Amino acid sequence: MRMTVRDFQALKAEGQRIVMVTAYDLMSARLAEKAGVPALLVGDTVGMVVQGHKTPIPVTLDHMIYHAAIVTRNTEKPLIIGDLPFMTYNISPEQALASAACLMQEGGVMAVKLEGGQTIAPTIRRLVEAGIPVMGHIGLQPQSVHQVSGMRVQGRDLESAVRLVRDADAVAAAGAFAIVLETVPVPLAQMITERLSIPTIGIGAGPYCDGQVQVFHDLLGLYEAFVPRHTRQYAQVGAIIQEALAAYARDVRAGAFPTEAHGFTMREDVLLALREQIAGAAADTSEVEGHARD
Ligand code: KIV
Repeated sequence: MRMTVRDFQALKAEGQRIVMVTAYDLMSARLAEKAGVPALLVGDTVGMVVQGHKTPIPVTLDHMIYHAAIVTRNTEKPLIIGDLPFMTYNISPEQALASAACLMQEGGVMAVKLEGGQTIAPTIRRLVEAGIPVMGHIGLQPQSVHQVSGMRVQGRDLESAVRLVRDADAVAAAGAFAIVLETVPVPLAQMITERLSIPTIGIGAGPYCDGQVQVFHDLLGLYEAFVPRHTRQYAQVGAIIQEALAAYARDVRAGAFPTEAHGFTMREDVLLALREQIAGAAADTSEVEGHARD
């Protein structure tokens, strides 16, 4: 049975920490599910860790649908949440509805995530009223990276901290079932977590959130362009893969792979007949060519 939005919310009430990780493809989805991760985010970080962009801004709704469909098709148990990408929900609540509907119908996700606080709250309300579960996302909003001039900690001064508390309240009041707090100071994340009844999911927000989300590639040492301070690398899978591929390349160059044992046999009589036929055809051809020259 798949985890539902309601099960997800119940974890906060039960005092259980919520585990989330991003997934974008067959491998990440299957491995995360087998590891027992109950909720997967098909995040627009796909733009960075899969597509090789510097920001999530180039990610389109079609990209998200493509990746979400792979993740939902290849898992049975986790709740799957899909990011609405840049400018697919910011123009109007109707635009957001249409985008969310596509991500759910074609990508198969059970819920959508979108960035923003007080200004996006009416859109969240519209989606929720239409039956679409929404996860909010405040603090560092990577889709606004150019407006805030980089991936910076948010809410350090009084004015922005108050704004973030108001943002969290607005997102919760609009009906979001949970909210991501990205790169905000630890005490602020704790304060927001304590005042909201919905789960807070931190990333770079310290240990007092109700749950944690991390990027698959960051946890596993698969993304070398940048290692965020808030992550912990639980394995150096990238280095292991690189060494394995280098060994493969060495073996191919040295003639050590493939061996006969990696190949397929054919019957001796078929091989003999093939040789005769090919030799006969070659003789016929040289005879024709000889006549042509005469
Ligand atoms: O796109 C993403 O992966 C995210 C997480 C970093 C929260 O939004």
